Amino acid sequence: MTDQWWREAVFYQIYPLSFKDSDGDGYGDLRGIESKLDHLEWLGVDAIWLSPVYESPMADWGYDVTDHKAIDPLFGDMEAFDSFLRSVHSRGMRLVMDLILNHTSAQHPWFVESKSSHDNHMRDWYVWEPGSDDHPPNNWVSVFSGPAWSWDEATGEWFRHTYLPTQPDLNWRNPDVVEAMMGVIRFWLDRGVDGFRVDAAHQIMKDPENRDNPPTPPGYVDPYKEMGEYGRWIHLWDLGHEDVHEIHRQIRKLTDEYDRGIVTVGEIHEFDPNRWLNYFGPGDELTMPFNYNLMVSDWTATAVRAAIEKVEAVLPEWAWTNWTMGNHDEVRIASRLGDDSARQAAVLLTTLRGTPFLYYGDEVGMLNGSNQGRDPWGDNVSFLSRDGCRTPMQWSSSPTVGFSEAASPWIPIGPDPQRRSVETQRSDPESLLHLYRSLLVLRRQRLSLRVGDYRTLDSPDADVLVFVRWTESEATTVAVNFGVDAVQMSGPGDPLLTVGGYEPYGELIFLGPGAVAIWDSTPPARANQVSSSS
Ligand code: NOJ
Ligand code: MG
Repeated sequence: MTDQWWREAVFYQIYPLSFKDSDGDGYGDLRGIESKLDHLEWLGVDAIWLSPVYESPMADWGYDVTDHKAIDPLFGDMEAFDSFLRSVHSRGMRLVMDLILNHTSAQHPWFVESKSSHDNHMRDWYVWEPGSDDHPPNNWVSVFSGPAWSWDEATGEWFRHTYLPTQPDLNWRNPDVVEAMMGVIRFWLDRGVDGFRVDAAHQIMKDPENRDNPPTPPGYVDPYKEMGEYGRWIHLWDLGHEDVHEIHRQIRKLTDEYDRGIVTVGEIHEFDPNRWLNYFGPGDELTMPFNYNLMVSDWTATAVRAAIEKVEAVLPEWAWTNWTMGNHDEVRIASRLGDDSARQAAVLLTTLRGTPFLYYGDEVGMLNGSNQGRDPWGDNVSFLSRDGCRTPMQWSSSPTVGFSEAASPWIPIGPDPQRRSVETQRSDPESLLHLYRSLLVLRRQRLSLRVGDYRTLDSPDADVLVFVRWTESEATTVAVNFGVDAVQMSGPGDPLLTVGGYEPYGELIFLGPGAVAIWDSTPPARANQVSSSS
């Protein structure tokens, strides 16, 4: 079996535009990120997912690529990239790049060729359909709203775009496209990166017959989130076509040629557990599709338990999942749930069975900023603007939050940097930042938290979630009180870590509202038995 280092790793997503600006232009960049690796090492992070740094006109802030093998000057150059990668590796960390397969920028030379004429040799690299300019080929809509088709006046055909009209969809049924993108993957693996976060991994293959999507029934609730116009359709035909699995198999075949355990984390917005599971294949597709179930869960013991068990119930023994609560597309945890629940989120992310994915700034409880008209999605559907979760990393409480020397960064600074900054929270042992760090230390110390099995335990109260993670030699029990009242329960001795109100009371303990406790619950007899028989 190839090295599966990613099972035990803790990932941290960096949105490069907003992490650290080294040259004072107001945009974060690679040298800036490199200068902040101390923070990640101190926190206890093992791997970085870097959102796109490729050459791009930035219509979708880097998710619209014009050259997959070049670094955008905003972020630096290839030398800066190589230096950053060396620094990451020299600290024993790993680097995962974003891989955008579904589309390119409309300014990509491939699309420029493709749209130049019907008989251009790259015409078929994108998805073109004939017709008349008043009648798109079908009723599909773009994720960002509006039709998923745009009319090209010059050649008199429609081209498809799952996202912006400036992000035309590649035609993955064309073997030349497949080969070109495999070349991109190889390029970065040869440079030394450790894997990919695969953008829109479920969307790259659609119905070749272009059948219309049916409308959602009245009262339909999207398991992901309210999606505006896109949410008014059941996406039966414009994502998840079975041919997508062949693409993931081909990618896996390639990544497995590298014997250092290349990870592929696919962005799969699929909430049906069995359809989600299909993206693992029988172990020959994505190594670890993203699991968003905790992120979209209501914050009650019952809902969170259901989200966990939904995944636990279907995951085969050989497969491994991850847990995440936020990224550059979502409202920040502390804004969604509040500060107390953000602490519970930190505990769950780092103690459930699966690889934690943290989003920059969540470790200090950064809050969402407002729509600034930077994100094109927000221009179409203002409540879906992603500007709010992309504000500059709050390194300090200074007016520029230690992000940039520029008078005004590319996007305004978010709320409350006085309390929500690395500098402020480093000096406060009770801070969220220290909680994250302690949790990651605990995870390193405890094998059961990293690789152990999961079981939900009987709970003393409907508002309390109790679970155990265990291996043959060690067990860790976690109790999370989602309720507003203190709960009385028995705990297995002195806790390893507590959050919020925790009172021992003879044989019993009181777990305060919103509180968490983590215990070593290793049964001594069983542990001895295991060690003497091995
Ligand atoms: C998903 C990415 O996470 C998002 O930021 C982007 O806009 C779309 N895919 C299009 O690439
Ligand atoms: Mg800069």
